[in-house]
Amino acid sequence: MTLITPPFPTNRLRRMRRTPALRELAQEHRLSVKDLIWPIFITDVPGADVEISSMPGVVRRTLKGAIEAAEEAAKLGIPAICLFPYTDPAVKTETCEQAWAEDNFTNKVIAAMKEAVPEVAIMTDIALDPYNANGHDGLVRDGIIINDETVEALVKMALAQAEAGADILGPSDMMDGRIGALRSAMEAAGHKDITILSYAAKYASAFYGPFRDAVGASGALKGDKKTYQMNPGNSDEALRNVARDIAEGADMVMVKPGMPYLDIVRRVKDTFQMPTYAYQVSGEYAMLMAAVQNGWLDHDKVMLESLLAFRRAGCDGVLTYFAPKAAKLIGA
Ligand code: PBG
Repeated sequence: MTLITPPFPTNRLRRMRRTPALRELAQEHRLSVKDLIWPIFITDVPGADVEISSMPGVVRRTLKGAIEAAEEAAKLGIPAICLFPYTDPAVKTETCEQAWAEDNFTNKVIAAMKEAVPEVAIMTDIALDPYNANGHDGLVRDGIIINDETVEALVKMALAQAEAGADILGPSDMMDGRIGALRSAMEAAGHKDITILSYAAKYASAFYGPFRDAVGASGALKGDKKTYQMNPGNSDEALRNVARDIAEGADMVMVKPGMPYLDIVRRVKDTFQMPTYAYQVSGEYAMLMAAVQNGWLDHDKVMLESLLAFRRAGCDGVLTYFAPKAAKLIGA
């Protein structure tokens, strides 16, 4: 492709920026409500349904509150909600069996939301951390996160979520081989059309801090997640992870965190041309909200600019805690 750039003054790039109408006509990327996935925190622990102090404006929701979120999403035109449970520390064990209990709170919420507002897609989180006494996404033995047994546990967890009515499985655990295991278990169990949005390139990031407060994992976590989540210094490795997950049966792929990793999004989109998502994670939300609360940044403007940047980088959609606020501003 040859770029033809006549010299000044034949070429004046400012001509197309002169008025709002011309700028609209020349705009390459846009943000729509339809690009948003809204992560919400849910809990059945009495008194835990409060605002998360490191995430101003984000609350933990009871079953009733989760249904209200689904109704709000439907009204605003947000296509999907993603669920993250805050679990009672008393039910967390080293073997994590609550993760695949058919009647665990998440599965009850999935069923109730699908019943009340079937048109809003429900995405789940597949990882053991909300149920794990040591806060890790996988089973731990002698300080090691055990891959293959964890995958077996994740499959059981996913089957229970699928039975409850989930539309999108969201494995966020970063074990090897889990996408293939989930895909074949779903085929075998008759859930042939359930979709998998793989957290394919998930980095071991300090930007998850407020999330761990929200799901109550901060206190529990022993050590860090660097033996399974990716090294922030790597880019080619992200492509290897994404390629592997597509080959194993992922329908959609995700890069996480978002804003500091948009270079990865661009490479993933260009290389694989798959439905591609990024997660604007809790720390990104917290960072923007902290500056807003100090009066240093304009809430609406930075929110929309940050979300548009995901689209420009190649995302088909964004998981963001700003989803309902952004939807209200953009309009359906
Ligand atoms: C854990 C999980 C995490 C997030 C989503 N799922 C945290 C982690 O890996 O420790 C982070 C989301 C956010 O920070 O908003 N399975």
